[in-house]
Amino acid sequence: MRIPDIATAARVLALGHYQPANVVSNDDLTKTMDTNDEWIQSRVGIKERRIAPPEESVEDMAAIAGGKALASSGLTPDDVDLVIVATCTLETQIPNAAAVVAHRLGIDSPGAFDVNAACAGFCYALATANAAVRSGGARNVLVIGAEKLSQWIDWTDRSTAVIFADGAGAAVVGPSETPGIGPVVWGSSGDKSDAIRIKDRDDYLRQEGQTVFRWATTALHPVALEACERAGVDPSELSAFVPHQANLRIIEAIARKLGADKAVIARDIVHAGNTSAASIPLALSRMLERGEVRSGGLALMLGFGAGLTYAGQVIEIP
Ligand code: UT7
Repeated sequence: MRIPDIATAARVLALGHYQPANVVSNDDLTKTMDTNDEWIQSRVGIKERRIAPPEESVEDMAAIAGGKALASSGLTPDDVDLVIVATCTLETQIPNAAAVVAHRLGIDSPGAFDVNAACAGFCYALATANAAVRSGGARNVLVIGAEKLSQWIDWTDRSTAVIFADGAGAAVVGPSETPGIGPVVWGSSGDKSDAIRIKDRDDYLRQEGQTVFRWATTALHPVALEACERAGVDPSELSAFVPHQANLRIIEAIARKLGADKAVIARDIVHAGNTSAASIPLALSRMLERGEVRSGGLALMLGFGAGLTYAGQVIEIP
């Protein structure tokens, strides 16, 4: 047996994102359901979200975000040998999204698989990409979080319809001389697996909001702190905190307990809604584009959602 030349470290080389053009405001939703802008803003923090048209698929959004990240990295499709798509909202289960997206981007014969860890999926996929590069399993990996929640939402159920949205975010991960992705802290609470679920093929996404809210505001800040500790980073050194964009009240509750005083807190939910596995790369890519965070700073990512699953790690912003 021979062991390949192994990269000692990996980093995020570039980010990219995509959102559907159609903006749906809270007032738009009041035309079809019993809700109001005040309730949505005060309980969830959302002002508007993007909803894809019927003909736009998860794979379409993933390919656009992935293509942007690849272009921004300066690499070519030939440089990528593994594609991972984190998603839980494909229209059909077969084929997987990663192989379709890779083909659309002209990436020839890469390893290609999807990860379903719901809203924690991007952090799981990023950890897997980091391990693949470091172990010699891949040179460069395209990691994408892409979701079309709108096709799994009951548009008469105001408790979910006002929250979830569509979009995609992507990262290119490649070898590095110095570490740019910290150790992942991940886990699950399967005892609460009923709290967010799609019961069968004819059902829609249902969630016990308060159960998940209580869990997210009590169980997750230790995960965030452990991800910092395992990366050797004090929370005061973070320049960004990018949690899953589930609810602004959850984001702010975890941020308070983290004590990351200098960090810019991602509040992308206000304009993007909850896009599950897409929310973290989408938020960070948009923050970078707006100049709210700088390249080289440290960002803590923290994903959590159905399963219930969670995962977090510190990265150096590309
Ligand atoms: O992304 C995956 C992870 N998911 C999460 O992290 C979600 C965590 N949970 C939450 O974010 C919140 O629990 C929700 C945003 C889902 C709900 O907020 P809440 O403050 O827990 O509201 P609630 O479910 O306790 O409902 C409070 C009231 C109820 O009315 P009554 O029974 O008090 O009269 C609901 O019927 O608000 C009512 N309500 C609404 N009113 C206006 C529920 N949805 C709406 C709505 N518009 N859209």
